[in-house]
Amino acid sequence: MAGRKFSNKVIVVTGAASGIGLAVARRFARAGATCALLDMDEARLARCERQFSQAGRRVMGLPCDVTRRADCETAIQSVIDRFGGIDVLFNNAGITQRSAFTETRIEVYEQVMAVNFFGALYCTKAAIHSLIQRRGLIISNESIAGLAPLLGRTGYAASKHAMHGLFTSLRSEVRDQGVHVMVVCPGFIKTRLQDRALGGDGTVTRHPQSRIGRQGTPEHAAEAIFRGAEKEKDLLVLTGMGKMAYWISRLAPAFYERRMASRLKAELKR
Ligand code: NAI
Repeated sequence: MAGRKFSNKVIVVTGAASGIGLAVARRFARAGATCALLDMDEARLARCERQFSQAGRRVMGLPCDVTRRADCETAIQSVIDRFGGIDVLFNNAGITQRSAFTETRIEVYEQVMAVNFFGALYCTKAAIHSLIQRRGLIISNESIAGLAPLLGRTGYAASKHAMHGLFTSLRSEVRDQGVHVMVVCPGFIKTRLQDRALGGDGTVTRHPQSRIGRQGTPEHAAEAIFRGAEKEKDLLVLTGMGKMAYWISRLAPAFYERRMASRLKAELKR
């Protein structure tokens, strides 16, 4: 049977005002967890906080731009002060990018790394002592692009590979202290992520996105993440297409690269 229980536990979710983060917060709240919702989109965050409160959930909304270290430290400290500690940290806030390497400004790489990698690092650094004290759980929301190449998303893939190195290594350091680290690699999930993907010049791209396979829903992803968290999975790969991509990229990396590139390269010509 499942190991971890989340009733009366405190979960911090970054990027909680939309998509997978919001669905995960709702799922843990349904199991009786207290939710700290962090997001830079203050209007959406306030709406989400209201909805949670109206549903009788114990909740706290905290405006936080994860690219700002001080924001992360202040938000995490506020959660500890208000609720006494942190049991689960879901590092989820993220942005993506779609543009050829030759046409992508360095600032785009810096921005994607700042949100996806440094945001997760700042929050984890700020929360780690509380997580150790409470033998907690860190969930890192990565991507298949954190394990395998992805054409047209060099910045996104780099940020997710960086997260993967950080969190799998951290797992080996904190496991003996009772903290578990679960890495999640979703396939394509229907959220607002792609509508706001950065192009090479740093504005929202107009490149249409090629999609491989059916998109999953945030609610399905959240259910799988919740179940994986109960079972303390090390790695959770989501969606049928995600699982297929994962295994092909492990077993036949050269074949995977060719197939993936031939499916996506038209995207950069449009
Ligand atoms: P989403 O765009 O619906 O939600 C992302 C949330 O993060 C938004 O509420 C946004 O305001 C917030 N956010 C962005 N930058 C932030 C910052 N600097 N500080 C604080 N909050 C910030 O997207 P989705 O899909 O729910 O993305 C969540 C995570 O899932 C991301 O890390 C993404 O890379 C990952 N993922 C998503 C996949 C998909 O197909 N949707 C596939 C693989 C991974």
